[in-house]
Amino acid sequence: MKPTWLADRDIASVMHPYTNLKKHLDVGPVMITRGEGIYLYDENDRALLDGAAGQWCSSLGYGKANARIAKVASDALIDLPYSHIFRHQSHKSVVELSEKLLALAPVPMSKVMLQCSGSEANDTAVKMVWYYWAGRNQPQRRKIISRMGSYHGSTCASLSLTGNTDYYRSFGLPLDGFLKVSGLNYYRTGLPGETEDQFTDRLAKELEDLIVKEGPDTIAAFWADPVQGNAGALPPPKGYFEKVQKILKKYDIVFVVDEVICGFGRTGEWWGTQRYGLEPDIITSAKGLSSAMQPISAVLVNEKIFSVIAAESDRLGSFIHGYTYAGHPVTTAVTVEVIKVYEELDIVGHVKGLERQFQAILESFRDHPLIGNVSGVGLLGGLEMVKDKETKTAFPKEFGLAPKIEAAGRSHGVLVRVIADRLVFAPPLIITAEELDKLAAGARAALDDVYASMA
Ligand SMILES: Cc1ncc(COP(=O)(O)O)c(C=O)c1O
Repeated sequence: MKPTWLADRDIASVMHPYTNLKKHLDVGPVMITRGEGIYLYDENDRALLDGAAGQWCSSLGYGKANARIAKVASDALIDLPYSHIFRHQSHKSVVELSEKLLALAPVPMSKVMLQCSGSEANDTAVKMVWYYWAGRNQPQRRKIISRMGSYHGSTCASLSLTGNTDYYRSFGLPLDGFLKVSGLNYYRTGLPGETEDQFTDRLAKELEDLIVKEGPDTIAAFWADPVQGNAGALPPPKGYFEKVQKILKKYDIVFVVDEVICGFGRTGEWWGTQRYGLEPDIITSAKGLSSAMQPISAVLVNEKIFSVIAAESDRLGSFIHGYTYAGHPVTTAVTVEVIKVYEELDIVGHVKGLERQFQAILESFRDHPLIGNVSGVGLLGGLEMVKDKETKTAFPKEFGLAPKIEAAGRSHGVLVRVIADRLVFAPPLIITAEELDKLAAGARAALDDVYASMA
């Protein structure tokens, strides 16, 4: 049924991403009219606690507390509503932001390149990696390895990095040379009797076997998100990255870390890289970078990569890559201000302070008949839902688990996300202890409703 406000509107005018486009013409949209704190309001002014921070990105939440950021945007729109950064041209806030990102970088980084989305950041990084190997006279190094379960974006290259076969269908993707290794769900894919340590040994061996089979001198890069967001907010099993990084070093493979979700406090550190002791050559960042208040993303590259890219661009005359809106002065001014707010609020300390409670909340769900496993870090975590706990049987697709849980959550005043059969929590980072309890209560009520409906 169409919401009342939409009665005379043309809902067919909007084509929505990740939506059943035909069904949408019948059911119409869920209209969101405003936000305040960690709540979004629908067109009946019903408050919905935003348990997923929009798309894992609205770290500072919504509304009046952000008025100072709105003022910065408004001033920037008047002072310099647009100025490109092509061909040596620059402006103040793009320099300020890049300096700040290098100062905050979790490992020594040399340069920052800006785009408008996480997909574009990963796309840019793919091109940088190829350009880098061409600059090192190894242009045959083009293959890129990523993991099943990881999402890296929707452009042709970033979707090719993405490890989800459902997302390729009818697009004829992935592109050639985008290889995959297994994802990290120990609960689901660990073998009977296999310890976590043996599981990560097996994953590391799979990676090394693939590199050797393909030929190490054809592998350009390995791509990983510190916590696998699209696999349902799945932290890495213990020891995984230590083993993987040893292999990458052994074969001189570029390590790209996708911090699009994990960066800017989500894991209880500024970066997931710090949380898991990673040593990336390239980092991609978006979402929390600007608290999603402006469409902006960043690629950070270390000196090893940059010096080769710079020499190659000198040889060719230019680094022929960039977007009209890259380093847009409104996006960069807002992002500088958002980072100031993060620092003033000590947002990372705040997340760290809530982590124990968040973990206890996740653990408390173990007694629920639909929950087979729980895991999380910082303010990012998920509950693995199963039809049968004993046998770990998953819900069949026809059951429609995600829409059922999400609708039940809305009826209890919480917006929760279900992805890969996991009920995911990634609330705005400004959430309080009391609000976390409310989120947990809403999620439990949603699970209870769905469980009761199965009787
Ligand atoms: C880890 C990760 N990388 C990249 C992206 C793509 O970002 P965007 O939607 O801004 O293009 C996403 C989006 O959810 C993501 O979760």
